[in-house]
Amino acid sequence: MKTPQFFQLHRLDDRVLADEASAGLMRPRAAVSPKFFYDPMGSRLFDAITELAEYYPTRTEASILGAHGPAIGAAALAMTGPAPVLVDLGAGNCAKAERLFGLVTPRRYVAVDISVEFLRHSLKCLQREHPAMDMVGVGQDFSSRLALPPEVVDGPALMFYPGSSIGNFTPAEALHLLRQAHHTAHGGALLIGVDHVKAAAVLEAAYDDDLGVTAAFNLNLLKHLNRLLGADFDVRQWRHVALYDARASRIEMHLEARQALTVRWPRHERPFAAGERLHTENSYKWTPEGFTALLHDAGFTGVQHWSDAQGAFGVYLAKA
Ligand code: AVJ
Repeated sequence: MKTPQFFQLHRLDDRVLADEASAGLMRPRAAVSPKFFYDPMGSRLFDAITELAEYYPTRTEASILGAHGPAIGAAALAMTGPAPVLVDLGAGNCAKAERLFGLVTPRRYVAVDISVEFLRHSLKCLQREHPAMDMVGVGQDFSSRLALPPEVVDGPALMFYPGSSIGNFTPAEALHLLRQAHHTAHGGALLIGVDHVKAAAVLEAAYDDDLGVTAAFNLNLLKHLNRLLGADFDVRQWRHVALYDARASRIEMHLEARQALTVRWPRHERPFAAGERLHTENSYKWTPEGFTALLHDAGFTGVQHWSDAQGAFGVYLAKA
């Protein structure tokens, strides 16, 4: 049996993260990155979100990959050649990529995630199931820069970016990331999940479910900031807000102060007026035409996509 290899390319130090959050809170329009959702509780709450009736993306993507897996695998191999390196962006527990093993028989599996520690456990389990597979875990925050060690991607790669996580990026940032994915693919291909534009009511329900799981996910960010910064956010003074901005084609999540209040942390204080908001996430939605054009701008060709019957979600394949 082989053993996974690990690289930590960028140490995410809490001081740097705290300074980033602090600067965001002090802006005239307070805003922090959605990466601050994902402390251990936030990751569990996100898993719960994916099981909600209102939150269709995860299950729709899985059903598209289930229904069209063999066709998608064959089309991907036609672009990459046999036995590509499979690069999994934001791998987490690696469950989604494992389903691709049978479809493209990768020569090597490269899991990339912010936390190499999380990958250590996942890859150990995966290696037991696939003892002969070459496996590499890379700890990198690819939202700022995607650059893998050259020995890890030494031939055409299938870059896999599921879950519509690309939606957290503005169109300009998404273009930048896709250009880096194009470069990293080494003449291979990209397989990416994208949430589509649809009725505002459907989108707003997906980000404001009736059980309040998404509200808890959003509010939990305040507890994470309390720990990270030593701040004194009182969760009960804040309300979850999710609204669809049709002009920007994005869901915005905010936390809104229920009353005038002041948040304090070392060397800082930030007053909020009643109704003032802290912006916590954008989740961009794309049309098939718009996302295809974005892939072309990033250098990809031969774009194909598969969708569910309602066209709610798309799985896109493109040649690098
Ligand atoms: C993980 C970024 C794909 O935007 O749908 C889910 C995060 N936020 N509910 C999304 C999220 C609120 C999710 N992504």
